[in-house]
Amino acid sequence: MTTLTLINDAPANADVTCVFAGMKNKAAHLLGKAGTPAQDAKIVAALKDLGFTGKAGELATIPGSSVGLSGKLLVVGVGAAPVHETYRKSAGVAARAASGAKKLAILVSADSVDAAGAIAEGALLGAYTFNTYRNASNSPARQSVKAIAVVTAEAKNAVVKAAVKRAVTVATAVNATRDLSNTSPLDLPPASVAEAAQNIAEQHGLAIEILDEKAMAKKGFGGILGVGQGSSRPPRLIRMSYRPAGAVGHLAIVGKGITFDTGGISLKPPANMHEMKADMSGAAAVINAIGAIAALNLNVNVTAYAACAENMPGGKAQRPGDVVKAYGGRTVEVLNTDAEGRLVLMDALVYAQEEKPDIIIDVATLTGAAVVALGTRISAVLSNDDALRNHVVDAGSRSGESFWPLPLPADLRPELDSMVADIANIGTPMQAGTLFGGLFLLDFIESGQRWAHLDIAGPAFNSKGAYDYTPRGGTGTAVRTLVTVAEDMVAGLI
Ligand code: BES
Ligand code: MN
Ligand code: ZN
Repeated sequence: MTTLTLINDAPANADVTCVFAGMKNKAAHLLGKAGTPAQDAKIVAALKDLGFTGKAGELATIPGSSVGLSGKLLVVGVGAAPVHETYRKSAGVAARAASGAKKLAILVSADSVDAAGAIAEGALLGAYTFNTYRNASNSPARQSVKAIAVVTAEAKNAVVKAAVKRAVTVATAVNATRDLSNTSPLDLPPASVAEAAQNIAEQHGLAIEILDEKAMAKKGFGGILGVGQGSSRPPRLIRMSYRPAGAVGHLAIVGKGITFDTGGISLKPPANMHEMKADMSGAAAVINAIGAIAALNLNVNVTAYAACAENMPGGKAQRPGDVVKAYGGRTVEVLNTDAEGRLVLMDALVYAQEEKPDIIIDVATLTGAAVVALGTRISAVLSNDDALRNHVVDAGSRSGESFWPLPLPADLRPELDSMVADIANIGTPMQAGTLFGGLFLLDFIESGQRWAHLDIAGPAFNSKGAYDYTPRGGTGTAVRTLVTVAEDMVAGLI
């Protein structure tokens, strides 16, 4: 794990130093000082030779000895008009370029100090590596930089300190979410997600309830039990509660926790099925988001629900055609056992509404159709409340996560009608898959309950190369937006 400190002066022992560069008339200029005026002039001359223009995310590596400095110098562009997300990304580029190093010093100039939090966040997110299962192949190049120092003359400024502290808390939660998504599904049955939640609850003093399969059978959680019954490793429903004194409202966050999704009897094709180890990313996001919210002492009640099951085609597996009973009594005809996320979520959503929270947000890798519609960098947001949906898009963009609204068209609801039960778990095949996922969930939301559904199927797992502060594998998406939404509730913005 990479450590991060906020200090006034550049440390003498940094083996890598990063300085940002802006862009003006297609030419780079340093933001702040990397050395003496003469050394800085040499750096700018070297950048010119390299054809470095300073555009956002552009990286130049300069040997310190060539400009009279020690160690390796990274110059990362932030372009002509950087915003916080630009700094997050460029700091992530620097942290990735510094992998294997002992200490990365990131120099923050006076005109970038407003972005110190963003820089710290991007650096810690970019530094992430997952080496749990590596032995011999664990080369230095694959290891995170050990320590990051954010260097600014404003290191003692209370606002800057608070921003960096928030960044460390949030990035730590995102990286913990990534760890869970990357963990081998062999090692992460539902009971292990519950253990991870237990650890987070202990660390932050949260109340936690873990319902095992017996407790769920007593209470009638037929959705989670049905999905989990094909696995030798039984399901769990986790509820964590954060209740600060004098809270301004109540946010419920509900995560899909399918620890592996084979599709069940409606078996998935083999290509890329291993990526379905990350089908618990929604659950991992909500349990880590509530931990971060508690660590930040946000003055809002939060309850996190993680609906965990392994979707396997064992001899006891549920069949297409089975009718299951959701918590609360509504019946569902399971026409496709691969549409299992909505079956575990419906139980958790009904359960969550018993506490009458002001807002419910569920987070799920729910549909392949969301990947088709929006790709791997934008998540879908569907809601029964226009203001809440717009707010999620805005909170996401401030947090560095992209969401785009999709509709919940009431006139498609009849396509979810079942011949035998209250509702079927799939709509018309090959059409509007993400909308049907949302419409199905909407059936379990009481009128007047403000609710948003985040379909993170695309962004949750990055199977291509690392970029900016996003590594390959689990990304921890949605954690940052959930924390921002909680902050916005405290601020009375929502
Ligand atoms: N976990 C998948 C969705 C998914 C697909 C997530 C690709 C990430 C990447 C989900 O359980 C699923 O299988 N959905 C089906 C629903 C269909 C049967 C209605 C899908 O999208 O094909
Ligand atoms: Mn599925
Ligand atoms: Zn799934």
